[in-house]
Amino acid sequence: APAVIVAIDGPSGTGKSSTSKAVAAQLGLSYLDTGAQYRAITWWMVTNGIDTDDPHEIAAAAGKPEIVSGTDPAAPTITVDGTDVAGPIRTQEVTAKVSAVSAVPEVRTRITELQRTIAAGAPLGIVVEGRDIGTTVLPDADLKIFLTASAEARAARRSGELKGADVNVTREALIKRDAADSSRKTSPLAKAEDAVEVDTTDLTLEQVIECVVTLVEEKR
Ligand code: C5P
Repeated sequence: APAVIVAIDGPSGTGKSSTSKAVAAQLGLSYLDTGAQYRAITWWMVTNGIDTDDPHEIAAAAGKPEIVSGTDPAAPTITVDGTDVAGPIRTQEVTAKVSAVSAVPEVRTRITELQRTIAAGAPLGIVVEGRDIGTTVLPDADLKIFLTASAEARAARRSGELKGADVNVTREALIKRDAADSSRKTSPLAKAEDAVEVDTTDLTLEQVIECVVTLVEEKR
C-alpha cells in the first residue's frame, strides 16, 4: 500500500497528541508532534537571550538552532543542537512564549520545511498533529481531522495533565493561546475545508482513537 498521510489539527486540550500517537502506533505509521518543534525553537530563543517580544530578533535567529524529531509513536523524541529538550519545552515559560515565536513567518517557513521533509521520508506514512497541517503544511493529506472540545473540557484535561494546576488559570492561559494562534496572519489555527471535524467533548480517548482509525482505514 502507498504511504498514508494523516493531518490532525485543533486547539490545545482536545486530545490531539494522545489520539495521534495511538492512531500511529495502531496502524504502524510514524508520528510527528509539530507543537514540540515550535516549543523547541522557542526554548532555544529563551535560552539564548533572544527577546521574544521582538519579531525582528526572532526572525534573525530562526535559522540557527538545529531541531531534530524522532518519529516513533511509542517513543517520540525532540532535540535542539543535539540536546534532549523533551522536558524543558513543557515549562510554563515556553508555553507562554510559544505563540509569539510561532507567529513569525521566518520561523514557520523553517519549521514547515522540516515537517514536509519528515512526512515525505516516512516509509509507511505518518500522523502529523498541529494547527496548520491540513491547511498549509500538507494540503494533500489523505485524511484531515479537526479535533474540537468545549473550553471547559479542554481546561479540565490540561489541568489533569499538569497535576494540581488551577483549572481557572489553565483555562484562561489556554483560551489566550488559542486566540493568539487563531488570529495570527501566517497559517493560523484553522479547520481545512475538507477536514472531518470531531467534537471530543463527550467522547472518551478510546472512542476518539477508534473513530480516527476507522476513518484512516476507509482511506487505505
Ligand atoms: O500542540 P502544542 O500545544 O504543543 O503547541 C504549542 C504551540 O505551538 C501552539 O500554541 C502554537 O502556537 C504553535 N504551533 C503552531 N503550529 C503548529 C503546531 C503548534 O503554530 N502546527
